[in-house]
Amino acid sequence: MKIACLAGDGIGPEIMAEALKVLDALGLPIEVAHADVGGTAYKKHGHPLPPETLELCKASDAVLFGAVGDPSCDNLERHLRPEQAILGLRQALTLFANLRPATMFPGLEDLSALRPEVAREIDLLIVRELNGDVYFGEKAIRTLEDGRRQGFDFMSYAEDEVRRIAHVAFRAAQGRNKRLCSVDKANVLETSQLWRDVVIEVSAEYPDVALSHMYVDNAAMQLVRNPGQFDVVVTGNLFGDILSDQASMCVGSIGLLASASLGEDQTQYGTRGLYEPIHGSAPDIAGQGKANPMAMILSLAMLLRHSLGLEAEAARVEAAVAKALEDGVKGADLGGTAGTSELGDAVLARL
Ligand code: IPM
Ligand code: MG
Repeated sequence: MKIACLAGDGIGPEIMAEALKVLDALGLPIEVAHADVGGTAYKKHGHPLPPETLELCKASDAVLFGAVGDPSCDNLERHLRPEQAILGLRQALTLFANLRPATMFPGLEDLSALRPEVAREIDLLIVRELNGDVYFGEKAIRTLEDGRRQGFDFMSYAEDEVRRIAHVAFRAAQGRNKRLCSVDKANVLETSQLWRDVVIEVSAEYPDVALSHMYVDNAAMQLVRNPGQFDVVVTGNLFGDILSDQASMCVGSIGLLASASLGEDQTQYGTRGLYEPIHGSAPDIAGQGKANPMAMILSLAMLLRHSLGLEAEAARVEAAVAKALEDGVKGADLGGTAGTSELGDAVLARL
């Protein structure tokens, strides 16, 4: 088994080191190859996603990804900015299905931005489409005839793009509590109307799953009012980006949420995918040993499960993280004092 390890920028290398400690401790026959990505790669190779990095990812069973983003690169042309590396990988590897689970960890109810009795009920999975929408449509800042500048981003979904993510979401719901909520803005957007029509068509193949629909503004409200009502949520790229950050704060910290980005490509062991925390590179705390590595470690667990078929090991890692949190081991993001390596060691001790 071979994984590509792209630590990236900011806190990426620090949290990656903790995930690799955990991987080492499992003693699995996995070859790990490292490559540059993001601002780090731009500074060394002149591009945030150098061809050799992409080649390594294509030749691996899975990609373990830290974070990208570097304020010193914010004024570069858009195609050279660090964020383009992750967008480029999602596109080049056709990683269209982004799974973002948000579950309350026992013992953290008081740290949620929500009341504990509301937060306790959170156990949901956001299935975010990752290859379409305004993210990848035609975009530019142009000058109109009257001299005004205008920015635009073309929003679209083709029916096959909606269908394939709908299937992923329905299957995920079958494996959970058999409820699927499709989030859109069909009262205003034609893109959303097609989304909704296609999700309803696909639902005919999943009579055991209860399908509901919700407008995205209402979903944002319901997510803080009563998050326990959600089982699986399926939505487009932009809405999923926003709702998944919101869900993380409901759980307590963005430092706790992992994600898997999956395509259709099957390897010998599972589905080829990319695994990353949903948080960014946090340049403000980079290099200080303060970052919470839990989301990174939980991303490794998702990698073991989905790409390498190692369910038992994945569950073991997740249990060790949950136990560390339950035992009160907390970093600064959760009001505690433990540093990055201390948090990693706490997980190791409970493996
Ligand atoms: C995420 C991030 C990315 C996104 C950025 C870094 C391009 O916010 O993975 O949620 O918008 O998809
Ligand atoms: Mg985001």
